[in-house]
Formats: sequence, structure tokens, C-alpha cells
Amino acid sequence: MNNLIEKFTDAALAQMRESHTYRTMRLIESPEAAHIILRGENGISSEQILLASNSYLDLADVPELKQAMANAVLKWGTGSGGARLTTGNKTPHVELETEIARFKGEEAAITFNTGYMANVGTISALCGKGDYIFSDELNHASIIDGIRLSRAKCFVYKHNDMADLERVILEAKADAREQAATSQGKAAAEFRGMIVTDAVFSMDGDLANLPELLKIAKAHEVLLMIDEAHATGVLGKTGRGLAEHYGCEHADVTIGTLSKAVATEGGFVAGKQKLIDFLRNKSRSFIFTTAMAPAIAAAALNNLKFIEANPERVQQLRGNVDFFCESLRREGLNVATSPSAIVPIVIGDEAKALQISATLQEHGILIPAIRYPTVAKGSARLRASLMATHTHEELERAAKEIATICKTDIS
Ligand SMILES: Cc1ncc(COP(=O)(O)O)c(C=O)c1O
Repeated sequence: MNNLIEKFTDAALAQMRESHTYRTMRLIESPEAAHIILRGENGISSEQILLASNSYLDLADVPELKQAMANAVLKWGTGSGGARLTTGNKTPHVELETEIARFKGEEAAITFNTGYMANVGTISALCGKGDYIFSDELNHASIIDGIRLSRAKCFVYKHNDMADLERVILEAKADAREQAATSQGKAAAEFRGMIVTDAVFSMDGDLANLPELLKIAKAHEVLLMIDEAHATGVLGKTGRGLAEHYGCEHADVTIGTLSKAVATEGGFVAGKQKLIDFLRNKSRSFIFTTAMAPAIAAAALNNLKFIEANPERVQQLRGNVDFFCESLRREGLNVATSPSAIVPIVIGDEAKALQISATLQEHGILIPAIRYPTVAKGSARLRASLMATHTHEELERAAKEIATICKTDIS
């Protein structure tokens, strides 16, 4: 037996254990909903209030939506059997894309198997060597991976800092001029740049400043792409996202996911028909993969229609976030009212955050600790996220428990 695997894994595993960043997975024995059954490390199962889900509208376990998905399985089978460009493209895929475009108020849309693939495949298709990307420092990993894959030059700007964004755009333009000056007779390529940002930042719950971003993108003639993974179904009166929230224009490229508030799976891009035609032909994570199961596409379509028909669910979620943040403050915690469904309670120390999360779990409240490398070292946090269906009573009880445990010196 050789020990080659150990050569690649041992040092990293030891380092992660030492720095409390080693990850395991918790086991949940019930569907995703406001209350779940969690299998503890001791093998004992317990009921928990789930304050950690991306299923913000709590649609994963709604009987009529489950029935619609079951019907779609019976009609369309278990898998798509091919890539979208070969034999995988079925009626539900096309209907879903039409509905997404309508819901988002765009000309057209295209779906991917995950939001991760939508980001990676869109950024790397649109931008390449010689292009410039301007990326918020807190952007999601899938955006960062898409930028790396594109081989464009990346300029990271300070989180939500519009002056810093303008600074890096000017720096990139100067860099492009310098490249042109040294291109020794070769025709200088036209400057092409794209700003990329999360709409809702996934670990802080704050929002990108879309009106300012639109102004800057226009002034500097660069594209604007926003990732509405945590905004779709959450922001705006009817859950249509960041543009509805601000009452402003849309970005050039809107990414979204069907895995969070929509409670199924998949990612999408919405925008001009030309953008969608381009991605269908150029995006490798769209082309070189089997299409999502048609039943998933049908389920996403049904769930999206449900959101459209029940905007009060979006407003219920908004009310819950306001109530929860206020309850935490009433209990003495320094928490601002989140504009999204994500409420970070920053603890700082990695081990302490883990300990608080474990104690909360003993009290029937599931809020995982988020640590480095997902967030910066020393900014470990409880990342609470709310659902439309949590009751005020349980949110108040949770706020009391969280405050009591946070104030107790556990370490
Ligand atoms: C901002 C952001 N973008 C993209 C994704 C990826 O979406 P998906 O889970 O559908 O792959 C996530 C989370 O998973 C996210 O938080």
C-alpha cells in the first residue's frame, strides 16, 4: 500500500482541525421547513426551529407544490437523458425559462443546473483574456471561480464602496491604455469591462447599491451583472428582486438561483435575448452537462407561479425579519435590521461561535456557525436566516435564547 493520498491530505486536515475550520455535515431527517428533525452527534434525534435555511418562503414542503412535482415525475420521468443542446431540452425547461423572463421583466432567460454553474458559465463566457472584471470583495465563491476561469484581469473593490469601484475602473482603463501602447503595432483591443456583484451578500445580508452601480456602469461604459441568489423571492413587494426593491432599472445581466426562495434546484440568467442566445452557444457549464431533470424544471415553474400568486408570503417574510431583529435588539444584542432574510450575529472567535451554535442546538434552535474560509478570519458568526412561516412567538423565544447564550461566557 502506498500512502500517496496521505501526502495530499494529511497536513491540510490537521491544519483545519487545529484552526477549528474542519467541516462535517449535520444530518436532517425531515423535509426542509420551519421545524425539522435533526440527528445529533450522539445519535439522538430532536426537533429544532430552523433558523438557517435558504428556503426563505418555506415552499419545499407545501403539499400542493410537492404534488405538482410528483405529477411532473410521472409525466416526464426521472431524468432528462441528455444535454440541452442534444436530447435533454423538454417542454418544462422552455416553459420555465419563459416564466423566469416574465417574472423578472426581461426579454429572455436561460437555466443552468445550479446557481453556481450559472455564475461560472456566464462570467467565463462573457469575459476573457484582455477583459476587465470589477468584483466586490465579498462576492460569492461561484463569482470568484467564474472570474478565475475567465482569465480576465480582476480588480477587487472594497465592499459596497462606490468610490473604490470608480477608482479601480480608472486603474483598469489606465492599464488597458498601457497595454495598447506596448502592443507594438497590433491593433489595440477595445476596452471591455464588467462589474459583478452579489445583490444580497450571502454572509452579511446587506444589499448592493443598484442605483449607484447603474450610474457608474453607464458613466464608464462597462457591463453590470448582479447575482440575485438571495434576492429572488425575497426583495421587493412581490419578490422580483433588487430592481423592484429600489424601483430602478435592471442590470445588464441578472443571475439567480431556483434553489433558495424558489425551493427547487437550478440557476438562471435573465436579460436581453442576445445575451441568452450568446450563453446558449458559449457557456460551457450550460453546454457540457446533462439538462436538469424535467420534473425539477416543472417544479421550479410551479413554485415560481406560486410566489407570483402569493406575494403576501414575501411580505410575511419581510415582517418576520423586522420583528426578529427588533427582538434581538430588545434582548441587548447589537444587530441592525437586515434588508434581506439573512441576519448575521457576529461573534468573532471561531471556537466560541461553534460553541454558541452547539448550545443553541441543545435548546432546539438550529443556527450554524459560519467560519473562515467562508467569512474572514476572526469574524465567525451565527448566520440566522428567516422563513415566511416562522411565528412571532417562536422568533421571540429564539431571540431570548440567543441573547442569553451569547451573553454567557461559554469559552
Ligand atoms: C450569492 C450566491 N450565488 C450563487 C450561489 C449558488 O447557487 P446554487 O446553490 O444554486 O448553486 C449561492 C449559494 O449557494 C449564493 O449564495
